[in-house]
Amino acid sequence: MTAAQPTARIAATGRFLPDRVLTNKELEQMVDTTEEWILERTGIVERRIAPAEMGVTEMGARAAQRALAKAEIDARDIDLLIVTTATPDRWLPSTSCEIQARIGAIGKSAAFDLHAACTGFLYALTMAEGHVAGGRADTVLVVAAEKMTSIIDWDDRSTCILFGDGAGAAIVQRSENGEGILASHHRSDGNFADLLERPAGGAANPLDAEALRAKDHLMKMSGREIFKLAVRRMAGAGRQVLRDAGLKGEDVDLLVPHQANIRIIESTARYSRIPMEKVFVNLNRYGNMSSASIPVALDEAVEQGLVGPGSVVLTAAFGAGLTWGAMALRW
Ligand code: UT7
Repeated sequence: MTAAQPTARIAATGRFLPDRVLTNKELEQMVDTTEEWILERTGIVERRIAPAEMGVTEMGARAAQRALAKAEIDARDIDLLIVTTATPDRWLPSTSCEIQARIGAIGKSAAFDLHAACTGFLYALTMAEGHVAGGRADTVLVVAAEKMTSIIDWDDRSTCILFGDGAGAAIVQRSENGEGILASHHRSDGNFADLLERPAGGAANPLDAEALRAKDHLMKMSGREIFKLAVRRMAGAGRQVLRDAGLKGEDVDLLVPHQANIRIIESTARYSRIPMEKVFVNLNRYGNMSSASIPVALDEAVEQGLVGPGSVVLTAAFGAGLTWGAMALRW
């Protein structure tokens, strides 16, 4: 989709990462793996683990409060709160309502959850943009919060090494001086739904003793198949938004990709003709935090001065569903 003139911008970002670090070395003691294998095949060195008593409501609320503080916005002035998570604290009610209460965004705000797995943050930004463009909201809070370690099978070496916990947030408001979302592109293909799933615990396959024994309430992933699809889809989406925004690879100041695997990131950069010096990577420190990866990366990039007023940022993501997408922004 093309936006000739941006209507919505990211006014501020925030993040929260739990303190506890889980290193590759520690994983060597837990499953049949090595530090070297994890680093070479994924680029991950360590990841954060939330304590048992901390869920996504708490992590998401803390990220949201930091974004609100930076934008100097009172939580009561939020018109809409969108939360993306694949790991809600409970199935009912929505995590967005729980975060709404936790941060005191009560008054005029509506709140709902959006589930597009790792692509969720980009989908949510586009929803926020639509609400701002349509005049239905002045201030939208988007929160991406994930406790991936709560759905990991710690005996499965092909998945337990990849994921970590964390939360990111963004405040979306009307564009003022031509800054904001230039173009976005979202797609999904449910034919690949079985490649990354939690088979049990929903309406079709409720939790029972057999499902628990088979660990069907935990994440199952066909990593190699997802890897191949991810490279093609993410790179294609990136190229599409650059075309829609009338930009070339060399116009991009920073590529902020979903942080799943360094080899996927490198391929995406290559296809988009963006050198690795212009690619933001924090996967080594946090692993894959699903939908929280991009907002956490954006917040760090701004803090490190890699993104500032006028910067052109390209983001791209893919995840379960399959879902994928990309977005170009002028900061
Ligand atoms: O956000 C979206 C979420 N999904 C993803 O991001 C997944 C994307 N996929 C990947 O990142 C990669 O496919 C993985 C990192 C999961 C796996 O890397 P790979 O290079 O695709 O390895 P592979 O699955 O082809 O496995 C190669 C070998 C296998 O052994 P054999 O069959 O060749 O003997 C695996 O059993 O590596 C083995 N292996 C491991 N060895 C040591 C798998 N996991 C491990 C491990 N340590 N942790």
